[in-house]
Amino acid sequence: MIHHIPFDYMYTFMLDVFTGIGVPADEAKICADVLIASDKRGIDSHGIGRLKPIYYDRIVDQKIQKPTTEFEIVRDHLATAVVDGHHGMGMVVAERCMQMAIDKAKKHGLGMVVARNSTHYGIAGYYPLMATAENMIGISGTNARPSIAPTFGVENMLGTNPLVFGFPTDEPFDFVNDYATSIIQRGKIEQYAREGRDCPEGLIVGRDGKSKTDSKQILDDLVKGEAALAPIGGIGEETGGYKGYGFATVTEVLSAALQQGAFLQQCVNKDADGNLKPYELGHYFMAIDIKCFCEPVDFRKTAGDIMRALRESEKAPGAERIYTCGEKEYLAGIERAESGVPVNEALQKDMITMRNELNLNYTFEFE
Ligand SMILES: NC(=O)c1ccc[n+]([C@@H]2O[C@H](COP(=O)([O-])OP(=O)(O)OC[C@H]3O[C@@H](n4cnc5c(N)ncnc54)[C@H](O)[C@@H]3O)[C@@H](O)[C@H]2O)c1
Repeated sequence: MIHHIPFDYMYTFMLDVFTGIGVPADEAKICADVLIASDKRGIDSHGIGRLKPIYYDRIVDQKIQKPTTEFEIVRDHLATAVVDGHHGMGMVVAERCMQMAIDKAKKHGLGMVVARNSTHYGIAGYYPLMATAENMIGISGTNARPSIAPTFGVENMLGTNPLVFGFPTDEPFDFVNDYATSIIQRGKIEQYAREGRDCPEGLIVGRDGKSKTDSKQILDDLVKGEAALAPIGGIGEETGGYKGYGFATVTEVLSAALQQGAFLQQCVNKDADGNLKPYELGHYFMAIDIKCFCEPVDFRKTAGDIMRALRESEKAPGAERIYTCGEKEYLAGIERAESGVPVNEALQKDMITMRNELNLNYTFEFE
């Protein structure tokens, strides 16, 4: 049965887990904040659901990520910087890099900070929204373990590589196109598998070049390299798959070339001898100070006018409404502030395991 847990309780639990596995208190706050932001925004693939497999297990069991983050600035040049994360917490690396980019933009109009040797940084949208809160345009992306096949290819080469822009608006929510450059990403396939549903046609390509739909099989096949995700636009050229392939490549280059970090199939957790190793991910963060171009209030109004015009345009027959990016997450936030974060049975088990292993003092209502 699904239980709903209030934001504050979930945040405190995440905080205790992060500190319990050795993340320093101030850095644990950043990590828990990125995760709870995902749960608040209704992005179930990247919140509490990721705490055990992506952070806890990688630190405690696999030892391929460090709970403490050595944030080394290897180059610093007016509006730009290069950071080495030394396999610490991706969210800490990312939050600090975006803050640096914002601070640089305050001084120079633009700021760009890139990171190498980092780890999974959670929802990409978190970081551009740090910039929009400061009347700036924010941009961020990250590479990830290889899973997208190039157009006409079947091998998983590119990560799900989000390429995310945040724009401040005069609406109650800012614009943020917070998504992968694959049509679907692993977290959603896991969700389909949990619900016993097949993936829709055309999202996953097998070694034979044909579409795969069996969700459970796909999860295994992705790991074995027997399946790959199609880029936005789909398999082949007919529906423009090469456009998503191009965007995924943009993120791969910006996540690796400026910072001279790992890329494509180097971003895996095993070395050539099959020994576990860190993923060596790269990220990029840009902040653009709007007041160098126009009054932020005017930018917000124009951006808001664009969103409103889109939403007010003629709807397809049978469609109830048109959304703009960031809107569904805003609405989810309002609903979840009342209902809390949904926690299914698999996640309940994860929470109990982490609590027991860390001897944390929690009695969950679902026990
Ligand atoms: N760290 C990583 O390695 C990594 C990699 C890939 C994805 N992610 C994260 O995973 C999360 C989920 O990614 P996803 O690809 O499943 O996202 P998704 O396909 O659910 O898309 C969500 C985005 O699309 C917008 N959207 C949804 N429906 C819309 C509509 N009808 N009209 C207009 N906009 C609409 C939302 O506002 C949101 O910005 C994101 O937060 C992303 O950053 C992280």
